[in-house]
Amino acid sequence: MKVLIATEKPFSKVAVDGIRKIVEGAGHSFATLEKYTSPEQLLEAVADADALIVRSDKVTKDVVAAAKNLKIVVRAGAGYDNLDLDALSARKIVAMNTPGQNSNAVAELALCFMIFMSRNQLTPGTGSELKSKTLGIQAYGNVGRLVASHAKGFGMNIMAFDPFVPAEAMEKEGVRVAKDLEDLYANSNFVSLHIPATEQTKGSIGYNLVSKMPKGGCLINTARKEVINEPELMKVLEEREDLKYIADVAPANIAELKEKFGNRVFATAKKMGAETAEANVNAGLAAANQIVKFFAEGCTKFQVNKF
Ligand code: 3PG
Repeated sequence: MKVLIATEKPFSKVAVDGIRKIVEGAGHSFATLEKYTSPEQLLEAVADADALIVRSDKVTKDVVAAAKNLKIVVRAGAGYDNLDLDALSARKIVAMNTPGQNSNAVAELALCFMIFMSRNQLTPGTGSELKSKTLGIQAYGNVGRLVASHAKGFGMNIMAFDPFVPAEAMEKEGVRVAKDLEDLYANSNFVSLHIPATEQTKGSIGYNLVSKMPKGGCLINTARKEVINEPELMKVLEEREDLKYIADVAPANIAELKEKFGNRVFATAKKMGAETAEANVNAGLAAANQIVKFFAEGCTKFQVNKF
């Protein structure tokens, strides 16, 4: 079988070497398409691939149609909103992710963002400390949970809201459970987003929630830019001169936000939450192992589509 890694934003060399070793060690062939600059290059590269490993690369219906031999796609990472699951399922192609494998890298970036914004983006002037502030975590999954644990080390109080996690599980970890999202936003100096981008969550973070934050509040987005209602964010930042926003990765209206709000906003140009050698190795090797097990035993653990 031919296993292709197609990564517009490449893995570290150590991760690619590790993936190659696993794939070739299991008797499969291995190819890479890195730093590609047009969707056509991806269409061409997938033509004879039996398995595909991607990061945030868009696996569209055109990619699926071009990949005549494709049997499995693994998104080396958590969020799989970049995969056209309908197109994959229609061809009975298995789609998987590698949950938890890059979570620590993203969690550390959320902490970095909190300090960066509390210290005025490292520009001169008086900042503030994280100690004794309240952090509200929206979605207590793999990343949210690690953010909570790291933030406790800074002496922060933790609140969380996650309708899919039993309250007792959060309370056991010293987390105050918010009654609802309004309660979370109204009582948190920082809110850190860890929700996936789905039809339900896209554009769901807007004026009504962000405007509830206490004075000096900061919204941290290491999840997906699509979950933000950008015009409403603009409106709330205009009305509330104390609020701040930091994101991995930049919203469409970042130029206007920067011009209007200066140091109250910051965004990365390219998503960098999972950009550590450790996360690349964890997620990349997990993806390779999942593919090898799928071909050897038909193992579909971590499958995210149904057909
Ligand atoms: C994820 O969903 O796993 C993260 O957003 C990482 O995405 P990346 O692999 O494109 O850096």
